[in-house]
Amino acid sequence: MKLKTVYVCQACGHQESKWLGRCPSCQAWSTLIEETQTPAARSLAYTEPVCTPVPLSKVAADGMPRITIGIDELDRVLGGGLTKGSLVLVGGDPGIGKSTLLLQAVGHLTGQGRRTLYLSAEESLPQIKMRADRLGLASDDLFLLSDTRIESLEAALDQVQPAVVVVDSIQTVGIGEIDSAVGSVAQIRGVTTRLMGIAKGRNIATFVVGHVTKDGAIAGPKVMEHMVDTVLYFESERTGPFRILRAHKNRFGSAQEIGVFEMQATGLAPVVNPSALFLSQRVTSPGAVVITSIEGSRPLLLEVQALTAPAVYGTPRRTAVGFDLQRVAMLCAVLDCRAGIEIGGLDVYVNVAGGVRITEPAADLGVVLALASAFRNRSVPADVVVIGEVGLSGEIRAAAYLPARIQEAQRLGFGRCIVPGVDIDRWQGPPTCLPLVGVRDVGEAISTVALR
Ligand code: TYD
Ligand code: MG
Repeated sequence: MKLKTVYVCQACGHQESKWLGRCPSCQAWSTLIEETQTPAARSLAYTEPVCTPVPLSKVAADGMPRITIGIDELDRVLGGGLTKGSLVLVGGDPGIGKSTLLLQAVGHLTGQGRRTLYLSAEESLPQIKMRADRLGLASDDLFLLSDTRIESLEAALDQVQPAVVVVDSIQTVGIGEIDSAVGSVAQIRGVTTRLMGIAKGRNIATFVVGHVTKDGAIAGPKVMEHMVDTVLYFESERTGPFRILRAHKNRFGSAQEIGVFEMQATGLAPVVNPSALFLSQRVTSPGAVVITSIEGSRPLLLEVQALTAPAVYGTPRRTAVGFDLQRVAMLCAVLDCRAGIEIGGLDVYVNVAGGVRITEPAADLGVVLALASAFRNRSVPADVVVIGEVGLSGEIRAAAYLPARIQEAQRLGFGRCIVPGVDIDRWQGPPTCLPLVGVRDVGEAISTVALR
């Protein structure tokens, strides 16, 4: 049997037949490492057919039983509980709380009488015990393994018969027979395939932790994203206590959901009312505006802050935290050219309070008003919520899910909403208790909050 040698980029998984100093795919330097490949199994095309096609109408729809973990924020991100036999990747920066969350999850599961098996290659058994004590876990249905070989996990499966398995982490667990270093692309692919076998073959829901590294020096969880069923990433813009768990891919539910947690001394606590939390430290000052953002199935109220300052260097700087930088540049140009707010030559900073990342266009108008308010050094009234997308002509475009956004603003006691005029024209929902002010362009919006 002839073994084939390939050079695999450890950052992105790209393969070359010869060594190169720089990966042609992701442009990273010194990331190509020699790996030997065992020849692929005989092509499936030449084997006997092994299963018969089933007509759609004969397929049972309830074939996907779920386990409710009992941590609402996690269950929702998973699409309504953990699907049996699924493989779930939980990624995030080191130290963000992946092990904590999964240990809490197995704690809840053992509380329901389900057996769980936790393989950690990063911490020793006493270390895990200490953490479990801190989280208040004590159950003989939680089995721990501290080892770096996936074989130990496989060997323990028959003995423990778990319903849920956790592997912490993909970068530190390896397969003995694969000849490359633990954490390399070949190992990550190999271990993922084995975990897939455990999940699907034995119908065991499996969580796997993956560390994201900024410089891509260790093969990131990216190379396994396409193999697993569900990808959840922990994100946090700053080193604050809030953590957002976001679904990036989900074969068993929506890939838009988020779960909000707060890191406390006793582990990650679900945040039941995130809007109230994100607005809790709000001060009414120039440059601060409350906007709405739809995250999955629920609206969030967030505070956008802007600051304008005389340009220190020749070219004015645009800086954004939690908001797309290109969009900030675009909105500055719209303010400058369409509304006569001469912001073009100034340094501009935009920040979303609470470490949340906004990815939807309906936040545009809020950012525009925050910038205008900072520029004029006058506050936007504290009881106003701003909703709407801004176009290049300065026009305000419709926002999706408007009733849900308005309802959330009403729930938190806001006095009025500035919304796209086009949405008011075609409003079909019930009359709202909250006054709505329809605006058609950026100039009108600026006048409405008295920033002219
Ligand atoms: P951890 O779950 O170990 O992160 P990861 O597995 O993603 O690398 O989280 C580590 C951080 O969480 C650490 O800095 C300590 C903090 N922490 C708390 O604040 N409270 C707790 O109850 C626990 C268990 C951890
Ligand atoms: Mg960890």
